[in-house]
Amino acid sequence: MRQDAQPIAGELGSSAGVRHRLLVVDPIHETALRHFREMYDVVVHMQPSPEALRRLICEANVLIMRSGVTIDADILAAATSLKIIARAGSGVDNIDLEAARNRGIAIFNVPDAGTVSVAEFTFGMLICLVRKIALADRQMHRNLWKKTELLGMELSGKTIAVVGYGRIGARVATIAQGFAMHVLAVVERTAPERRIEMERRGVALVDFREALERADVISLHVPLTERTRNLIGTTELQAMKRGAFLVNMARGGVVDEAALHRALTSGEIAGAAIDVFRVERQYSALMELDNVIATPHIGAMTDATQKKIGVQLLENIAAGLAGGSIANRII
Ligand code: 3PG
Repeated sequence: MRQDAQPIAGELGSSAGVRHRLLVVDPIHETALRHFREMYDVVVHMQPSPEALRRLICEANVLIMRSGVTIDADILAAATSLKIIARAGSGVDNIDLEAARNRGIAIFNVPDAGTVSVAEFTFGMLICLVRKIALADRQMHRNLWKKTELLGMELSGKTIAVVGYGRIGARVATIAQGFAMHVLAVVERTAPERRIEMERRGVALVDFREALERADVISLHVPLTERTRNLIGTTELQAMKRGAFLVNMARGGVVDEAALHRALTSGEIAGAAIDVFRVERQYSALMELDNVIATPHIGAMTDATQKKIGVQLLENIAAGLAGGSIANRII
Protein backbone atom coordinates (compact mmCIF):
# COMPACT_ATOMS: atom_id res chain seq x y z
CA MET A 1 0.00 0.00 0.00
CA ARG A 2 1.18 3.47 -0.78
CA GLN A 3 0.63 6.75 0.93
CA ASP A 4 1.41 9.34 -1.63
CA ALA A 5 0.43 12.62 -3.11
CA GLN A 6 -0.22 11.32 -6.58
CA PRO A 7 -2.92 13.54 -8.07
CA ILE A 8 -6.20 11.96 -9.02
CA ALA A 9 -6.61 11.63 -12.76
CA GLY A 10 -8.91 14.26 -14.26
CA GLU A 11 -8.76 16.44 -11.15
CA LEU A 12 -12.19 17.62 -10.10
CA GLY A 13 -12.74 21.33 -10.05
CA SER A 14 -12.47 22.65 -6.52
CA SER A 15 -13.71 26.12 -7.37
CA ALA A 16 -16.29 27.79 -5.16
CA GLY A 17 -19.81 26.53 -5.72
CA VAL A 18 -18.88 23.03 -6.91
CA ARG A 19 -20.43 20.43 -4.69
CA HIS A 20 -18.99 17.02 -5.24
CA ARG A 21 -21.36 14.10 -5.34
CA LEU A 22 -20.92 11.25 -2.85
CA LEU A 23 -22.64 7.91 -3.07
CA VAL A 24 -22.80 5.93 0.17
CA VAL A 25 -23.81 2.28 -0.23
CA ASP A 26 -22.84 0.75 3.13
CA PRO A 27 -23.36 2.01 6.69
CA ILE A 28 -20.94 4.63 8.01
CA HIS A 29 -20.89 6.48 11.34
CA GLU A 30 -23.71 9.01 11.66
CA THR A 31 -21.32 11.84 12.63
CA ALA A 32 -19.30 11.36 9.46
CA LEU A 33 -22.47 11.19 7.40
CA ARG A 34 -23.70 14.46 8.92
CA HIS A 35 -20.42 16.18 8.05
CA PHE A 36 -20.50 14.75 4.54
CA ARG A 37 -24.02 16.13 4.03
CA GLU A 38 -22.81 19.59 5.02
CA MET A 39 -19.94 19.49 2.53
CA TYR A 40 -21.20 17.47 -0.43
CA ASP A 41 -24.30 16.30 -2.26
CA VAL A 42 -24.82 12.93 -0.66
CA VAL A 43 -26.92 10.04 -1.92
CA VAL A 44 -27.36 7.16 0.52
CA HIS A 45 -28.64 3.86 -0.83
CA MET A 46 -27.79 0.86 1.30
CA GLN A 47 -26.51 -2.20 -0.57
CA PRO A 48 -28.18 -1.51 -3.91
CA SER A 49 -28.66 -4.29 -6.44
CA PRO A 50 -26.07 -4.28 -9.27
CA GLU A 51 -28.65 -2.65 -11.57
CA ALA A 52 -29.44 0.10 -9.07
CA LEU A 53 -25.75 0.61 -8.34
CA ARG A 54 -24.94 0.97 -12.06
CA ARG A 55 -27.61 3.65 -12.26
CA LEU A 56 -26.55 5.49 -9.10
CA ILE A 57 -22.83 5.41 -9.74
CA CYS A 58 -23.10 7.35 -13.04
CA GLU A 59 -23.42 10.60 -11.13
CA ALA A 60 -21.03 9.96 -8.27
CA ASN A 61 -17.59 11.52 -7.83
CA VAL A 62 -16.88 9.50 -4.69
CA LEU A 63 -18.16 6.09 -3.66
CA ILE A 64 -18.12 5.08 0.01
CA MET A 65 -18.51 1.34 0.45
CA ARG A 66 -17.79 -1.64 2.68
CA SER A 67 -18.20 -5.38 2.20
CA GLY A 68 -21.90 -5.12 1.34
CA VAL A 69 -21.43 -4.50 -2.39
CA THR A 70 -19.33 -5.85 -5.22
CA ILE A 71 -17.61 -3.26 -7.36
CA ASP A 72 -16.77 -5.14 -10.53
CA ALA A 73 -15.68 -3.99 -14.00
CA ASP A 74 -19.30 -3.73 -15.11
CA ILE A 75 -20.20 -1.33 -12.34
CA LEU A 76 -17.03 0.67 -12.93
CA ALA A 77 -17.83 0.99 -16.63
CA ALA A 78 -20.87 3.03 -15.61
CA ALA A 79 -18.86 5.15 -13.15
CA THR A 80 -17.90 7.83 -15.64
CA SER A 81 -17.54 10.64 -13.05
CA LEU A 82 -16.03 8.56 -10.29
CA LYS A 83 -12.68 9.75 -8.92
CA ILE A 84 -12.39 8.05 -5.53
CA ILE A 85 -13.52 4.78 -4.00
CA ALA A 86 -13.35 5.00 -0.23
CA ARG A 87 -13.36 1.58 1.44
CA ALA A 88 -14.70 2.33 4.92
CA GLY A 89 -12.73 -0.52 6.46
CA SER A 90 -10.00 -2.86 5.42
CA GLY A 91 -10.84 -5.62 2.90
CA VAL A 92 -10.79 -4.74 -0.79
CA ASP A 93 -11.48 -8.24 -2.14
CA ASN A 94 -14.88 -7.07 -3.42
CA ILE A 95 -13.40 -4.39 -5.68
CA ASP A 96 -11.97 -5.04 -9.14
CA LEU A 97 -8.75 -3.15 -8.47
CA GLU A 98 -7.39 -3.62 -11.98
CA ALA A 99 -10.52 -2.18 -13.60
CA ALA A 100 -10.41 0.78 -11.20
CA ARG A 101 -6.73 1.35 -11.96
CA ASN A 102 -7.44 1.33 -15.69
CA ARG A 103 -10.09 3.99 -15.18
CA GLY A 104 -7.78 6.20 -13.09
CA ILE A 105 -9.95 5.86 -10.00
CA ALA A 106 -8.12 6.32 -6.70
CA ILE A 107 -8.90 3.77 -3.98
CA PHE A 108 -8.04 3.97 -0.32
CA ASN A 109 -9.00 1.89 2.69
CA VAL A 110 -8.86 2.35 6.44
CA PRO A 111 -6.90 -0.69 7.51
CA ASP A 112 -6.10 -0.04 11.14
CA ALA A 113 -9.29 1.31 12.72
CA GLY A 114 -10.90 -2.11 13.17
CA THR A 115 -7.96 -3.97 14.71
CA VAL A 116 -9.04 -3.87 18.35
CA SER A 117 -12.73 -4.44 17.60
CA VAL A 118 -12.11 -7.46 15.38
CA ALA A 119 -9.57 -9.00 17.76
CA GLU A 120 -11.86 -8.56 20.76
CA PHE A 121 -14.75 -9.94 18.79
CA THR A 122 -12.69 -12.96 17.78
CA PHE A 123 -12.24 -13.81 21.42
CA GLY A 124 -15.88 -13.14 22.22
CA MET A 125 -16.84 -15.61 19.51
CA LEU A 126 -14.23 -18.13 20.61
CA ILE A 127 -15.40 -18.17 24.23
CA CYS A 128 -19.00 -18.37 23.08
CA LEU A 129 -18.11 -21.34 20.94
CA VAL A 130 -15.95 -23.40 23.29
CA ARG A 131 -18.25 -22.81 26.29
CA LYS A 132 -21.39 -23.32 24.16
CA ILE A 133 -22.79 -20.00 25.35
CA ALA A 134 -24.71 -19.28 22.16
CA LEU A 135 -26.17 -22.81 22.15
CA ALA A 136 -27.15 -22.48 25.82
CA ASP A 137 -28.79 -19.14 25.07
CA ARG A 138 -30.70 -20.58 22.12
CA GLN A 139 -31.94 -23.38 24.38
CA MET A 140 -32.86 -21.04 27.24
CA HIS A 141 -34.93 -18.91 24.87
CA ARG A 142 -36.94 -22.08 24.22
CA ASN A 143 -37.16 -22.80 27.96
CA LEU A 144 -34.79 -25.77 27.66
CA TRP A 145 -32.48 -26.50 30.62
CA LYS A 146 -29.95 -28.94 29.13
CA LYS A 147 -26.91 -28.64 31.37
CA THR A 148 -25.50 -32.06 30.49
CA GLU A 149 -25.26 -31.06 26.80
CA LEU A 150 -23.28 -27.95 27.63
CA LEU A 151 -19.89 -29.29 28.66
CA GLY A 152 -17.25 -26.92 27.30
CA MET A 153 -13.52 -26.55 26.83
CA GLU A 154 -11.20 -24.40 28.95
CA LEU A 155 -8.86 -22.18 26.92
CA SER A 156 -6.03 -21.97 29.44
CA GLY A 157 -3.16 -24.24 28.41
CA LYS A 158 -4.63 -24.90 24.96
CA THR A 159 -2.94 -23.97 21.68
CA ILE A 160 -4.28 -21.40 19.25
CA ALA A 161 -2.89 -21.04 15.73
CA VAL A 162 -3.25 -17.54 14.37
CA VAL A 163 -3.24 -17.81 10.59
CA GLY A 164 -2.19 -14.41 9.25
CA TYR A 165 -0.17 -12.41 11.74
CA GLY A 166 -1.00 -8.86 10.66
CA ARG A 167 -2.53 -6.17 12.85
CA ILE A 168 -5.52 -8.26 13.91
CA GLY A 169 -3.68 -11.58 14.17
CA ALA A 170 -1.03 -10.04 16.44
CA ARG A 171 -3.70 -8.54 18.66
CA VAL A 172 -5.53 -11.89 18.87
CA ALA A 173 -2.22 -13.49 19.90
CA THR A 174 -1.82 -11.00 22.74
CA ILE A 175 -5.35 -11.61 24.00
CA ALA A 176 -4.81 -15.38 23.75
CA GLN A 177 -1.69 -15.11 25.89
CA GLY A 178 -3.82 -13.28 28.47
CA PHE A 179 -5.89 -16.48 28.60
CA ALA A 180 -2.68 -18.52 29.14
CA MET A 181 -2.94 -20.09 25.69
CA HIS A 182 0.09 -21.20 23.67
CA VAL A 183 0.24 -19.22 20.46
CA LEU A 184 1.39 -20.49 17.08
CA ALA A 185 1.48 -18.14 14.11
CA VAL A 186 1.40 -18.86 10.39
CA VAL A 187 2.57 -16.18 8.00
CA GLU A 188 3.43 -16.27 4.34
CA ARG A 189 6.58 -14.15 4.62
CA THR A 190 8.45 -12.81 7.62
CA ALA A 191 11.15 -10.21 7.87
CA PRO A 192 13.93 -11.21 10.31
CA GLU A 193 12.97 -8.36 12.70
CA ARG A 194 9.43 -9.59 12.78
CA ARG A 195 10.59 -13.11 13.54
CA ILE A 196 12.65 -11.80 16.45
CA GLU A 197 9.70 -9.74 17.69
CA MET A 198 7.44 -12.81 17.60
CA GLU A 199 10.02 -14.87 19.49
CA ARG A 200 10.34 -12.12 22.07
CA ARG A 201 6.58 -12.21 22.54
CA GLY A 202 6.52 -15.98 22.91
CA VAL A 203 4.73 -16.59 19.60
CA ALA A 204 6.01 -19.66 17.75
CA LEU A 205 6.21 -19.32 13.99
CA VAL A 206 5.24 -22.62 12.38
CA ASP A 207 4.23 -23.81 8.95
CA PHE A 208 0.58 -24.18 8.07
CA ARG A 209 0.53 -27.98 8.27
CA GLU A 210 2.09 -28.01 11.74
CA ALA A 211 -0.41 -25.40 12.91
CA LEU A 212 -3.31 -27.52 11.69
CA GLU A 213 -1.98 -30.60 13.45
CA ARG A 214 -1.08 -28.97 16.76
CA ALA A 215 -3.75 -26.35 17.40
CA ASP A 216 -6.91 -26.70 19.48
CA VAL A 217 -8.15 -23.52 17.85
CA ILE A 218 -7.41 -22.26 14.34
CA SER A 219 -8.18 -18.56 13.97
CA LEU A 220 -8.14 -17.06 10.47
CA HIS A 221 -6.95 -13.49 9.89
CA VAL A 222 -5.82 -13.37 6.27
CA PRO A 223 -7.20 -11.23 3.45
CA LEU A 224 -9.06 -13.02 0.67
CA THR A 225 -6.75 -13.32 -2.34
CA GLU A 226 -6.23 -15.96 -4.99
CA ARG A 227 -3.62 -17.49 -2.65
CA THR A 228 -5.94 -17.72 0.36
CA ARG A 229 -9.14 -18.76 -1.42
CA ASN A 230 -10.23 -22.15 0.02
CA LEU A 231 -7.19 -22.19 2.29
CA ILE A 232 -9.22 -24.41 4.61
CA GLY A 233 -10.70 -27.33 2.67
CA THR A 234 -11.19 -31.06 3.17
CA THR A 235 -7.48 -31.88 3.50
CA GLU A 236 -6.84 -29.12 6.02
CA LEU A 237 -9.93 -29.99 8.07
CA GLN A 238 -8.83 -33.62 8.15
CA ALA A 239 -5.39 -32.54 9.34
CA MET A 240 -6.92 -30.67 12.29
CA LYS A 241 -7.24 -32.37 15.67
CA ARG A 242 -10.54 -34.05 16.36
CA GLY A 243 -12.04 -31.74 18.92
CA ALA A 244 -10.43 -28.62 17.46
CA PHE A 245 -12.34 -25.42 16.70
CA LEU A 246 -12.21 -23.10 13.70
CA VAL A 247 -12.77 -19.35 13.95
CA ASN A 248 -13.26 -17.42 10.71
CA MET A 249 -13.21 -13.64 11.08
CA ALA A 250 -11.44 -13.16 7.72
CA ARG A 251 -13.56 -13.83 4.64
CA GLY A 252 -15.99 -16.61 3.75
CA GLY A 253 -14.00 -17.47 0.64
CA VAL A 254 -11.01 -18.52 2.75
CA VAL A 255 -12.94 -21.63 3.80
CA ASP A 256 -14.56 -24.29 1.63
CA GLU A 257 -17.97 -24.11 3.31
CA ALA A 258 -19.21 -27.47 2.01
CA ALA A 259 -16.09 -29.18 3.37
CA LEU A 260 -16.54 -27.37 6.66
CA HIS A 261 -20.15 -28.51 6.88
CA ARG A 262 -19.02 -32.11 6.36
CA ALA A 263 -16.28 -31.83 8.98
CA LEU A 264 -18.69 -30.35 11.50
CA THR A 265 -21.40 -32.94 10.98
CA SER A 266 -19.04 -35.92 10.91
CA GLY A 267 -17.33 -34.80 14.13
CA GLU A 268 -13.98 -34.30 12.40
CA ILE A 269 -13.75 -30.95 14.17
CA ALA A 270 -15.73 -29.81 17.22
CA GLY A 271 -17.15 -26.49 16.12
CA ALA A 272 -16.82 -23.25 14.21
CA ALA A 273 -17.39 -19.57 14.88
CA ILE A 274 -18.10 -17.73 11.67
CA ASP A 275 -18.55 -14.00 11.10
CA VAL A 276 -18.05 -14.09 7.34
CA PHE A 277 -19.71 -16.13 4.63
CA ARG A 278 -18.83 -16.75 1.01
CA VAL A 279 -22.15 -15.19 0.00
CA GLU A 280 -23.43 -12.82 2.63
CA ARG A 281 -27.07 -12.03 3.47
CA GLN A 282 -28.08 -15.49 2.26
CA TYR A 283 -29.04 -18.75 3.90
CA SER A 284 -26.16 -21.09 4.67
CA ALA A 285 -26.63 -24.68 5.85
CA LEU A 286 -23.86 -24.01 8.38
CA MET A 287 -26.26 -21.87 10.39
CA GLU A 288 -28.42 -24.93 11.10
CA LEU A 289 -25.69 -26.67 13.06
CA ASP A 290 -25.61 -26.60 16.87
CA ASN A 291 -21.81 -26.58 16.85
CA VAL A 292 -21.70 -23.40 14.76
CA ILE A 293 -22.08 -19.89 15.98
CA ALA A 294 -22.68 -17.35 13.26
CA THR A 295 -22.81 -13.57 13.08
CA PRO A 296 -23.48 -11.23 10.13
CA HIS A 297 -19.96 -9.82 9.54
CA ILE A 298 -19.97 -7.58 12.62
CA GLY A 299 -16.31 -7.82 13.66
CA ALA A 300 -15.73 -4.12 13.00
CA MET A 301 -19.13 -2.97 14.22
CA THR A 302 -18.26 -0.91 17.28
CA ASP A 303 -18.87 2.75 17.76
CA ALA A 304 -15.15 3.40 18.35
CA THR A 305 -14.08 1.71 15.12
CA GLN A 306 -16.78 3.28 12.99
CA LYS A 307 -16.06 6.72 14.47
CA LYS A 308 -12.33 6.38 13.63
CA ILE A 309 -13.18 5.22 10.14
CA GLY A 310 -15.53 8.18 9.70
CA VAL A 311 -12.76 10.64 10.63
CA GLN A 312 -10.33 9.08 8.16
CA LEU A 313 -12.97 9.08 5.42
CA LEU A 314 -13.64 12.79 5.94
CA GLU A 315 -9.94 13.70 5.92
CA ASN A 316 -9.00 11.54 2.99
CA ILE A 317 -11.91 12.42 0.74
CA ALA A 318 -11.46 16.15 1.32
CA ALA A 319 -7.73 15.81 0.63
CA GLY A 320 -8.22 13.66 -2.44
CA LEU A 321 -10.83 15.94 -3.99
CA ALA A 322 -8.52 18.89 -3.41
CA GLY A 323 -5.69 17.09 -5.18
CA GLY A 324 -3.77 16.40 -1.97
CA SER A 325 -2.32 13.19 -0.58
CA ILE A 326 -4.57 10.27 0.36
CA ALA A 327 -3.52 8.11 3.29
CA ASN A 328 -3.57 4.34 2.74
CA ARG A 329 -4.05 4.77 -0.96
CA ILE A 330 -4.12 1.38 -2.64
CA ILE A 331 -4.19 2.60 -6.23
C1 3PG B 1 -12.97 -5.18 7.02
O1 3PG B 1 -12.58 -5.70 5.97
O2 3PG B 1 -12.68 -4.04 7.38
C2 3PG B 1 -13.80 -6.01 7.97
O3 3PG B 1 -14.00 -7.29 7.48
C3 3PG B 1 -15.11 -5.32 8.24
O4 3PG B 1 -15.84 -5.26 7.05
P1 3PG B 1 -17.08 -4.26 6.95
O5 3PG B 1 -16.52 -2.88 6.97
O6 3PG B 1 -17.74 -4.59 5.67
O7 3PG B 1 -17.94 -4.50 8.15
